[in-house]
Amino acid sequence: MKVHSLILTVAFLFLVPPQARSAENDSRADQAQARQDAVIVRAIERISDYDYRSDPAVAEAVMRQIRRSQGTPEFMRLVKRFKPDGIETQLVKTLVGDDRSAAVESAALLLELDAGRKAIRRRLNSTGQAVAVIETLGLLGNGRANHFLAEIVSDAERPYDQRRAAVTGLAKSNDGEKRLVALATEKKLVGDTFLVAGALLARSKDGGIRDAAAKVLPQPALKDAKPLPPIDELAQLRGDVAAGLKLFRGEATCANCHIVNDYGKDVGPNLSEIGTKLSREAMLTAVLAPSAGISHNYENFSVLTEEGQVITGLKISQTDNEIVIRTADAIDRTIPGEEVVTIKKSDTSIMPENLHHITGQQGLVDIVEYMMTLKKKG
Ligand code: HEC
Repeated sequence: MKVHSLILTVAFLFLVPPQARSAENDSRADQAQARQDAVIVRAIERISDYDYRSDPAVAEAVMRQIRRSQGTPEFMRLVKRFKPDGIETQLVKTLVGDDRSAAVESAALLLELDAGRKAIRRRLNSTGQAVAVIETLGLLGNGRANHFLAEIVSDAERPYDQRRAAVTGLAKSNDGEKRLVALATEKKLVGDTFLVAGALLARSKDGGIRDAAAKVLPQPALKDAKPLPPIDELAQLRGDVAAGLKLFRGEATCANCHIVNDYGKDVGPNLSEIGTKLSREAMLTAVLAPSAGISHNYENFSVLTEEGQVITGLKISQTDNEIVIRTADAIDRTIPGEEVVTIKKSDTSIMPENLHHITGQQGLVDIVEYMMTLKKKG
């Protein structure tokens, strides 16, 4: 304690008397104060068990010094050492800034502080900035960051672009890759990211990860069993809109279930504005893995009737008296209640798997190109 007071007394000797107010004096006073703060901070930095918050004057000097050092390496060092209250508000601002190195460093610090983790969570829940924060956590790639990312990839309520960014982030570190494999094994990876997760892990430097991923995240192949390019590469390819339209309405049978601008049948969702809603990658996923992201409104049911017939399709309505099922042929089947033996919800989509076996790789890309043109009007 004696040593502490001695150092502090020495530090306070640098106190400058208040000066008359003028611009020049102000800046001179500022400089003097900066020098004084630096001395105080350097002095107390050496004392490991000194609670700088116990003396308001010292606490203010520390805060001023930290504010002054913003944008320099000194800043992070001081924050780490003093963990000042309320610093998370300042750190969180750099988290989404243009300076990526500062952002990653801020993330590392925030994750060490209780209040910091809460601040990160708040940013993750504000839709406008979530993706930027997720990308920063991915660049950091330590256990704490990956813990957050793992939470995001398993959260079906989050939009695809957030979960996709979290998958990409996890795939950047070996710890993250292992978490992805574990999540996929436990079936906690939300379906619509499993193609991109598999594509990224297939390129892992770690052979064990590549093998594990091939098992739990199988990738779609073409009809002749030739593998398709990984989905992120497939999304880079460009196709022919007219050829895509032709396939959509014809051979590929899409229009049997989807209406586009009043053409087609009403089994699946209307795709007239799908180009506004989905990215190329999400469209490819919808076709290559239709059961990956079945939406609430399109749950597929199988009804077993007294006669032993199984009628499968979307449940349009259900009362005590009857149940109406819309089949893949866009036919509404009404089954009287007394004829129903069981109703089972299916976890596969009514949309067929392997439609890309009909179209081939180029046809698939053409259809996606066509769907990209389907945008919200006006
Ligand atoms: C037998 C009916 C059926 C056929 C055929 C079909 N779909 Fe679907 N599709 C659906 C249903 C139902 C959904 C809703 C979600 C689900 O169950 O997967 C869907 C979902 C989609 C989605 C996602 C829509 C969204 O809002 O997220 C896209 C994109 C899509 N289909 C494209 C196609 C394309 C392209 C084809 C042809 C290659 C096709 N579908 C063929 C029934 C079908």
